[in-house]
Amino acid sequence: MVFDELLNKDALSVQDIVFLLQCKGDEEKKLFAKSESVKKRHVDNIVYLRGLIEFSNLCRKDCNYCGIRKSNLNIDRFNLTDNDILQAAEFAFKNRFGSIVLQSGEIQSLAFTKRVVKLLDKILKLSNGQLRITLSCGEQSRDTFRQWLEHGATRYLLRIETSNEDLYYKIHPHDKFHSFEERVEALNNLKLLGYQTGTGVMIGLPYQTYEDLANDLLWIKKMDVDMVGMGPYLEHSGTPLYKFKSNLMPQTERFQLSLKMIAILRIIMKDINIASATSLQAIDKMGREKAIKIGANVLMPNITPGMYRNSYKLYDNKPCTDENPEDCKSCLEWRVSITNNIIAYGGYGDSQHHSHKRGSTLRKI
Ligand code: 5AD
Ligand code: FES
Repeated sequence: MVFDELLNKDALSVQDIVFLLQCKGDEEKKLFAKSESVKKRHVDNIVYLRGLIEFSNLCRKDCNYCGIRKSNLNIDRFNLTDNDILQAAEFAFKNRFGSIVLQSGEIQSLAFTKRVVKLLDKILKLSNGQLRITLSCGEQSRDTFRQWLEHGATRYLLRIETSNEDLYYKIHPHDKFHSFEERVEALNNLKLLGYQTGTGVMIGLPYQTYEDLANDLLWIKKMDVDMVGMGPYLEHSGTPLYKFKSNLMPQTERFQLSLKMIAILRIIMKDINIASATSLQAIDKMGREKAIKIGANVLMPNITPGMYRNSYKLYDNKPCTDENPEDCKSCLEWRVSITNNIIAYGGYGDSQHHSHKRGSTLRKI
């Protein structure tokens, strides 16, 4: 089949996607031109900002890739005060970011659930309900998800990391804290409760094949999520997967493959929100902007107070850890403008996919 026909097919098969993931040169350019036009048509050249607040690196889990895993004793553990978190939220509100993401390691306790409830109440109050709040605090019980929703969180990010269950257990310990089944169940609970639900995968993991990545994209589509964040896997010296460092695809290839994953995702899920992951920027200084150009429409500037950023290193060479939020803002505007996109200041950027789904459910009833 000619390449152009493949790009215009209604439904892509695993083999089609594997082929697209391996394309190079002119074909790669065509893929990116196609995803760019799908983006323009369906979500426009508009970028929504989410102020990212990494409020604690305490974590009960031991993911084999992650720098803040429980067994890594070589990092300072921190937990921002409520005041620090509220100040960061206020910064986002005053600078018209439209939304924030509260992200942390995974803690499951009554105290943690209540703390987040209290923070949600206070953030909604300080912003007169004009900041959308996304949570990214790992797997939680359905009841905890419900409480947070009732207190104003409307979006939740929980990456599946890989949709291949065997690979899942190679990159996570196989124990009661790390269950593929429970992760999927948590995602389904989020969807059922009505959250705008986000997931995503890492790209270029040890053992991962092109078929795995193609299946990831089809899995994400089947899950019918509203938001996706995905980026290259980056090694961290304090983790078990570090030993595979020399067997991995070079970082520049992982980067290019991530762009192709984003482009294909935009083509197969036209109206979802796609975040441009920070890990793209760790490999290429203009990495996030390149992703915006070919399909992503969400940027998550880190607004965590500077002194804590060094301790939230999920991978080595994490960018921007020594800048303050103000610095990040001005350089961001310039970066977005050169991709022919504009920042929607004050725009919530709710997932169109989510409202389209709701619309069709209402119509059916
Ligand atoms: N490289 C790239 N991404 C990582 N994450 C965690 N560790 C790494 C790493 N070493 C991603 C995971 C997680 C998100 C918060 O960060 O996908 O869900
Ligand atoms: Fe914290 Fe993976 S190490 S959730």
